Amino acid sequence: MAQQALTLERFISLNQPTFPGGASVLTGLLSQIGLVGKYLAHDLRRAALLDILGTTGTTNVQGETVKKLDEIANETFVRLLQQNGQVCALASEEMEQPIILPRSGAQGAYMVLFDPLDGSSNTDVNMPLGSIFSIVMKQRPDDVLSESDLVRKGTEQVAAGYLLFGASTMLVFTTGQGVHGFTLDPESGDYLLSHKAITMPARGKVYAANEGNYQKWPCGTQKYFDYLKVKDKATGRPYSGRYSGCLVADVHRILLGGGIYLYPGELDKPEGKLRLLYEANPLAWVVEQAGGRASTGTMRILDVEAKQLHQRVPLIIGSMDDVLEAERHIQGQA
Ligand code: AHG
Ligand code: MN
Ligand code: MN
Repeated sequence: MAQQALTLERFISLNQPTFPGGASVLTGLLSQIGLVGKYLAHDLRRAALLDILGTTGTTNVQGETVKKLDEIANETFVRLLQQNGQVCALASEEMEQPIILPRSGAQGAYMVLFDPLDGSSNTDVNMPLGSIFSIVMKQRPDDVLSESDLVRKGTEQVAAGYLLFGASTMLVFTTGQGVHGFTLDPESGDYLLSHKAITMPARGKVYAANEGNYQKWPCGTQKYFDYLKVKDKATGRPYSGRYSGCLVADVHRILLGGGIYLYPGELDKPEGKLRLLYEANPLAWVVEQAGGRASTGTMRILDVEAKQLHQRVPLIIGSMDDVLEAERHIQGQA
């Protein structure tokens, strides 16, 4: 239930005046991402009726099977963000190369990196999905951009957040002034403030991970999962397992109720699965802004040096005390 009928646009103009470039720029960028959310929510609701479930028969730059909806979501982001006068470059989990917009005309100062559809194994079974975005700025106004300009550390983000397609559609974002959640009102078509200044508990009661990978994990990681199942009143263990297959949905649950999500490094794949620029960095900033913590197991996600557009990183994210405990185990200190 919305606390008050405050639209996304009105909230930004009242609460985010210090955004670089001004509140109107942020309004323009987030409204456009909100519009992407409306289009995608519309497609997802009808996907089974429109023959847009299943795969395209191709693999993406990540080597993963592309779902028809991955492609549709990517095209929607590209089309709508290209039309927004404030954007100069786009990079996506689904595109090998970034799109650098022509410098003729009014090229904006903002670069948007995104995971157009997160949790795409959920498309065919009517389960939650998300989209994740990270916004960084061009360093100098007259820069001629290349791929390396988009490969930036998480601390350089100026806005980040996600769309969640669940029972309702939500837009959750931070610009470094807390985390705010908006729910799409299907009647008016407005995103209305429903979750102001989200703060997460220091410890939760749930963990989210693909535990089928247990045998692939290093000993410290395995020990942490064993620890989660041991009965202990003081820390509320055993924790409940809650894994949806959609990072956005799992992180959203943890953002609101506390707990921990882990996609750790594996013995044969120490870099893990998730992507630093499209998934880990934006969600890490959101969670930090709500009082939580995001780590590779050995260092803060936002301090990880970005070297490549499609770089992967282990991700341990959630409530402060839970992530600290996971780090202690992973580092062999428990
Ligand atoms: P994407 O659909 O963008 O490729 O991301 C999938 C991610 C994430 O959403 C989820 O938590 C995780 O990968 C699921 O991976 P497993 O199937 O290996 O558990
Ligand atoms: Mn994803
Ligand atoms: Mn994806």
